[in-house]
Amino acid sequence: MVTILAIESSCDDTSAAVLRDGRMLSNVIASQKIHEQYGGVVPELASRAHQQNIIPVVDAALRQAGVGKEELDAVGFTRGPGLMGSLMVGVSFAKSFAQALGIPLVEVNHLQAHVLSHFIDNGGPMPQFPFLCLLVSGGHTQILLLRSHFDMEVLGQTIDDAAGEAIDKAAKIMDLGYPGGPVIDRLAQEGNPDAFRFATPQIQGYDYSFSGIKTSFLYFLRDRLKEDPDFIENHKADLCASIQKTIVAFLLKKVERAALDHHVKQVAIAGGVSANSLLRAELQHLCERRHWQAFIPPFTFCTDNAAMVGIAAHYKYLRGEFADLSLPPYTRG
Ligand code: KG4
Ligand code: ZN
Repeated sequence: MVTILAIESSCDDTSAAVLRDGRMLSNVIASQKIHEQYGGVVPELASRAHQQNIIPVVDAALRQAGVGKEELDAVGFTRGPGLMGSLMVGVSFAKSFAQALGIPLVEVNHLQAHVLSHFIDNGGPMPQFPFLCLLVSGGHTQILLLRSHFDMEVLGQTIDDAAGEAIDKAAKIMDLGYPGGPVIDRLAQEGNPDAFRFATPQIQGYDYSFSGIKTSFLYFLRDRLKEDPDFIENHKADLCASIQKTIVAFLLKKVERAALDHHVKQVAIAGGVSANSLLRAELQHLCERRHWQAFIPPFTFCTDNAAMVGIAAHYKYLRGEFADLSLPPYTRG
């Protein structure tokens, strides 16, 4: 029996989870509301909030799991990539906690954790290797070919902004608040996705580029606002639906190509943007049309959470891959 306490603090969510043999016993997430008023994550405020949240969150995770500290076999933590000040809180906590209990530490890469969230045992089917995973978050957009839990080949990735970043920027242009992804998703439900067209860039292979889409959205609105100062207000739902459709179609076009070229029949999505309802529905359609199997994570595993760190730590623990107490966090992936 392997019982792991996992810690995630790479950005603006403080999270702790307990997993036993790959099954989730608890997954506590404290989201930091403080950033909303600034329209983005303020690193200095994020690390302070992590500092306040970390002990109560770990305490709640152990309590909800009904697991005592002495029952833990290891502490898993996100080492990077992420914001340095945020990571340092989780990393320092994990090190001291593991040292105090005399149990091993397992370092986890945040991106691998997002992908491995598909292996949290909840009784449902898990992907079989090899499979493809589209990792789409606020910081990353990658098409990965997974040959084993830790053999992830990057087939393609964004050369500039991440998909989540592009969505958040479009939301900011429309003054919808931060993070914009969930707001655009909600407003888009009432809009016409074909109301407006935004060009997607021609880019080689399986790579992406999102900065052009954001710029064409910005220029389009600037022109329309000259004629009608209330243009955004009057067309909010259509704008959200149209930009969302543009981004989702672009994402899935490359995924389809990559899956065909690599002869894989299982496609997963992961990361914050995988919570997007259109992306989820369109992936399902694509997989039905191609007779592939789609793996769509439950909402709690899409955005940052410690359960995904726990499952990555679980597999590393089984391989005997332990971390040194002197390991520093890293900010880039
Ligand atoms: O994985 P995540 O929680 O943090 C990073 O590691 O970046 O992803 C956050 C991103 C943000 O850009 C947010 O706007 C986006 O995920 N997001 C969504 C939705 N929910 C979160 N984007 C589109 N639709 C959603 N429903
Ligand atoms: Zn993330």
